[in-house]
Amino acid sequence: MIARALVALPEYADEVVQGLNSARKTLPCKLFYDDRGSALFEEITRLDEYYPTRTELEILRDRSREIAQAVGLPVSIVELGAGTATKTGTLLNAFACRQMRLKYFPVDISSAALGDAKKRIKMDCPAAVVKPVVADFAHGFGFLKNIPNRKLVLYLGSSIGNFDWNDATAMLRNVREQLSPGDGLLLGTDMVKPADILVPAYDDAQGITAEFNKNILMRLNREFGGDFDLSSFCHVAEWNPLRSRMEIYLESLRTQIVSLKALSLAIRFGAGERIHTENSYKYTLQMVEQMLCVSGSKLEKSWFDRRKWFGLHLARV
Ligand code: AVJ
Repeated sequence: MIARALVALPEYADEVVQGLNSARKTLPCKLFYDDRGSALFEEITRLDEYYPTRTELEILRDRSREIAQAVGLPVSIVELGAGTATKTGTLLNAFACRQMRLKYFPVDISSAALGDAKKRIKMDCPAAVVKPVVADFAHGFGFLKNIPNRKLVLYLGSSIGNFDWNDATAMLRNVREQLSPGDGLLLGTDMVKPADILVPAYDDAQGITAEFNKNILMRLNREFGGDFDLSSFCHVAEWNPLRSRMEIYLESLRTQIVSLKALSLAIRFGAGERIHTENSYKYTLQMVEQMLCVSGSKLEKSWFDRRKWFGLHLARV
């Protein structure tokens, strides 16, 4: 534990200290998403190279009716990490046209995002009744118990891909434990594909992903009195086929010492030394099947786009 004098430090201060003090430097990818980082991520989702968002949307547009049919009615829809719910409208419509007063519970840590989600769904699916839930998944999924009726839980966008295998299966198991027989989970996963498609998706020509990555250093400068010189680091994105994941780093361009005053920390970087900021796992259907199986649910049906670049998987409890 580090001393917390005078001003309260953010609760992730210990993680930052640990990560930067270790032999292989790391920073938690959740730090990407301050206001600027969230706006940059929105920009990423619109890039030509970044196929996941538009591919998942394509599946939702083409297959929502089939998905609703497979899930069965009546059901309440719960979306984990709903954000502003930009993708959910089409799916909700497929349920709402066959079920009166469909209830939609978007869950997110940000109440501001949930406000936008509510407005968004009012426009995209006026028939749905929206009931926002503010929750931090770090505190578990107990809130699911308070949601009545049979449930379909959505976890879209391949958000699961940020977790290592053990954390991903633990998370899915924790969700599963709050569900009842007959409930479903619709999981979005980015699939394994050639490196020449994957790498540009995480290292775009306009350099938006590089800015998104470096934003983490801007944040450390602001929140911990740091003096990271952003032009002394470069963005690196690599495909690791053995671990089936994209790896994102910030690489020091020279030998340098960076200090973080609020943490009484001075960190030495060698030229070429990296900070590991993110993993983004890519799955085969077999991996998805296994991941769901060890989490206590059963893969019932998968839907893909025509290139099989992204998958939506329905698991049943
Ligand atoms: C939000 C975790 C799905 O892994 O593709 C995008 C984050 N990082 N570009 C992903 C991200 C760099 C994104 N997820």
